[in-house]
Amino acid sequence: MTTTQPSPTAAGSGSSATEAFRATRSTASTAQTVPPERVSAVVSSLLAGIHRTIRSESVTYDEFQAAKQYLIEVGEGGEWPLLLDVFVEHVVEDVASRDQNCTKGSILGPYYLPGQARLDSPATLPARPDERGTTLVFSGQVRDTLGNPLPGAAVDIWQADEQGYYSGFAPHVPDGNLRAVVVADREGRFEIRTVEPAPYQIPTDGPTGTLIEAAGWHPWRPAHLHLLVSASGMRPITTQLYFRGGEWLDSDVATATKPELILDPVDAGDGTHAVEYDFVLERA
Ligand code: DHB
Ligand code: FE
Repeated sequence: MTTTQPSPTAAGSGSSATEAFRATRSTASTAQTVPPERVSAVVSSLLAGIHRTIRSESVTYDEFQAAKQYLIEVGEGGEWPLLLDVFVEHVVEDVASRDQNCTKGSILGPYYLPGQARLDSPATLPARPDERGTTLVFSGQVRDTLGNPLPGAAVDIWQADEQGYYSGFAPHVPDGNLRAVVVADREGRFEIRTVEPAPYQIPTDGPTGTLIEAAGWHPWRPAHLHLLVSASGMRPITTQLYFRGGEWLDSDVATATKPELILDPVDAGDGTHAVEYDFVLERA
């Protein structure tokens, strides 16, 4: 199957991602939030890795200067959130989940926007009147590790549309489109009506896309739903759900798929798809 949807422009998504990231950070500077011992330990190890690569790959002055120029362009293009989330975050998530005993997590990515519409379940995600795509009814229950339902759990969901665009990061998509915080009922159950997203392509016209092309990689993520599931007294989980048989599942450019996170929607008979997925949270 060929995927023909247009790609979001790097300038649109990249610079907004930097703004969105800044908005979620407190004003405290890095020096105030990370203790000096950790800065020293982590940065020393990081630099040692770079030094080792320069020696083992016999990196030339030309390549060093090209790298410097590239890093300047990543900043100027506002693409640090894209670059880091696509190539680095999956390992941070892997380390963070070492002691977790709940639903598998995945990366947050650069397109989370807090403060979306809060809707009681059953809910329909805000969408344009002519929103394209196969209707998906996504339902399930949020429970603790003992199987007890978590009443009023919040399912914060965001996704690309049927063309691979995220609201807030593509100028033609209205703010809040295909984003909401859905509040589960007294039994922790939720039902969310939405459309199936398309695979997502890293914008090819910015520095992240340039690197992907220069290295001969591909810029695709398989179609996915983003979720941040929380309940009072419980540790929130950030995860993503994918679709069985979806393109790029086995070669996600962000390395963020897991076998436990693949949905298998069924045709409900009227051309719409339905799928259930339960979330398990552990105590905070
Ligand atoms: C990126 C985009 C995504 O939609 C995502 O889920 C993860 C990473 C990115 O462009 O870096
Ligand atoms: Fe995404």
